[in-house]
Amino acid sequence: MAETQQNVGALTDQEVKLLKDSWGILAEDKKTNGVKLFMKLFRRFSKAKEMFRMFKDKPLEALDYNG
Ligand code: HEM
Repeated sequence: MAETQQNVGALTDQEVKLLKDSWGILAEDKKTNGVKLFMKLFRRFSKAKEMFRMFKDKPLEALDYNG
Protein backbone atom coordinates (compact mmCIF):
# COMPACT_ATOMS: atom_id res chain seq x y z
CA MET A 1 0.00 0.00 0.00
CA ALA A 2 1.73 3.17 -1.15
CA GLU A 3 1.26 6.39 0.80
CA THR A 4 -1.49 8.58 -0.68
CA GLN A 5 -3.37 11.68 0.45
CA GLN A 6 -6.01 9.36 1.95
CA ASN A 7 -3.69 7.34 4.13
CA VAL A 8 -1.11 9.84 5.34
CA GLY A 9 0.44 8.31 8.43
CA ALA A 10 -0.30 4.75 7.29
CA LEU A 11 2.65 2.40 6.94
CA THR A 12 4.43 2.17 3.60
CA ASP A 13 5.04 -1.17 1.85
CA GLN A 14 8.67 -0.97 2.95
CA GLU A 15 7.68 -0.36 6.60
CA VAL A 16 5.23 -3.27 6.52
CA LYS A 17 7.98 -5.49 5.11
CA LEU A 18 10.46 -4.40 7.79
CA LEU A 19 7.91 -5.09 10.53
CA LYS A 20 7.05 -8.52 9.15
CA ASP A 21 10.74 -9.41 8.76
CA SER A 22 11.46 -8.29 12.32
CA TRP A 23 9.04 -10.93 13.68
CA GLY A 24 11.25 -13.59 12.07
CA ILE A 25 14.26 -12.26 13.99
CA LEU A 26 12.33 -12.31 17.28
CA ALA A 27 11.01 -15.81 16.55
CA GLU A 28 14.56 -17.20 16.39
CA ASP A 29 14.52 -17.22 20.20
CA LYS A 30 10.98 -16.62 21.38
CA LYS A 31 11.62 -17.31 25.04
CA THR A 32 14.62 -15.00 25.49
CA ASN A 33 13.02 -12.24 23.44
CA GLY A 34 9.63 -12.62 25.15
CA VAL A 35 11.23 -12.44 28.59
CA LYS A 36 13.30 -9.41 27.50
CA LEU A 37 10.12 -7.62 26.44
CA PHE A 38 8.39 -8.33 29.74
CA MET A 39 11.49 -7.41 31.79
CA LYS A 40 11.68 -4.10 29.95
CA LEU A 41 7.99 -3.44 30.64
CA PHE A 42 8.28 -4.41 34.31
CA ARG A 43 11.50 -2.40 34.88
CA ARG A 44 9.93 0.71 33.38
CA PHE A 45 6.44 0.24 34.89
CA SER A 46 6.89 -1.85 38.02
CA LYS A 47 3.14 -1.90 38.81
CA ALA A 48 2.47 -3.80 35.56
CA LYS A 49 4.01 -6.93 37.14
CA GLU A 50 1.24 -6.96 39.78
CA MET A 51 -1.33 -7.48 37.00
CA PHE A 52 0.04 -10.97 36.28
CA ARG A 53 -0.94 -13.57 38.91
CA MET A 54 2.04 -15.77 38.00
CA PHE A 55 4.56 -12.98 38.48
CA LYS A 56 3.22 -10.73 41.20
CA ASP A 57 4.69 -12.63 44.16
CA LYS A 58 8.08 -13.17 42.53
CA PRO A 59 10.98 -10.71 42.69
CA LEU A 60 11.70 -9.14 39.32
CA GLU A 61 15.15 -10.70 39.01
CA ALA A 62 13.67 -14.20 39.50
CA LEU A 63 11.74 -13.74 36.23
CA ASP A 64 14.80 -12.92 34.12
CA TYR A 65 15.98 -15.39 31.48
CA ASN A 66 18.67 -15.12 28.84
CA GLY A 67 19.03 -18.30 26.80
C1 HEM B 1 -2.39 -10.87 20.94
C2 HEM B 1 -2.40 -10.24 22.09
C3 HEM B 1 -3.03 -10.77 23.34
C4 HEM B 1 -3.95 -11.72 23.53
C5 HEM B 1 -4.67 -12.56 22.48
C6 HEM B 1 -4.18 -11.84 24.95
C7 HEM B 1 -5.05 -12.72 25.55
C8 HEM B 1 -5.21 -12.91 26.89
C9 HEM B 1 -6.02 -13.92 27.53
C10 HEM B 1 -6.86 -14.95 26.79
C11 HEM B 1 -5.92 -13.76 28.86
C12 HEM B 1 -6.55 -14.62 29.93
C13 HEM B 1 -7.86 -14.02 30.37
C14 HEM B 1 -8.50 -14.85 31.48
O1 HEM B 1 -7.80 -15.29 32.40
O2 HEM B 1 -9.69 -15.04 31.43
C15 HEM B 1 -5.03 -12.64 29.10
C16 HEM B 1 -4.68 -12.17 30.32
C17 HEM B 1 -3.88 -11.08 30.54
N1 HEM B 1 -3.24 -10.32 29.59
FE1 HEM B 1 -3.32 -10.64 27.58
N2 HEM B 1 -3.40 -10.95 25.60
C18 HEM B 1 -2.66 -10.27 24.67
C19 HEM B 1 -1.73 -9.28 24.89
C20 HEM B 1 -1.43 -8.75 26.12
C21 HEM B 1 -0.44 -7.72 26.34
C22 HEM B 1 0.42 -7.07 25.26
C23 HEM B 1 -0.44 -7.48 27.67
C24 HEM B 1 0.39 -6.48 28.43
C25 HEM B 1 1.69 -6.46 28.29
C26 HEM B 1 -1.43 -8.35 28.28
C27 HEM B 1 -1.73 -8.40 29.62
C28 HEM B 1 -2.53 -9.33 30.21
C29 HEM B 1 -2.72 -9.45 31.67
C30 HEM B 1 -2.11 -8.54 32.73
C31 HEM B 1 -3.56 -10.55 31.87
C32 HEM B 1 -4.02 -11.10 33.21
C33 HEM B 1 -2.99 -12.11 33.63
C34 HEM B 1 -3.33 -12.83 34.92
O3 HEM B 1 -4.50 -13.01 35.21
O4 HEM B 1 -2.40 -13.22 35.62
N3 HEM B 1 -2.01 -9.11 27.31
N4 HEM B 1 -4.62 -12.14 27.89
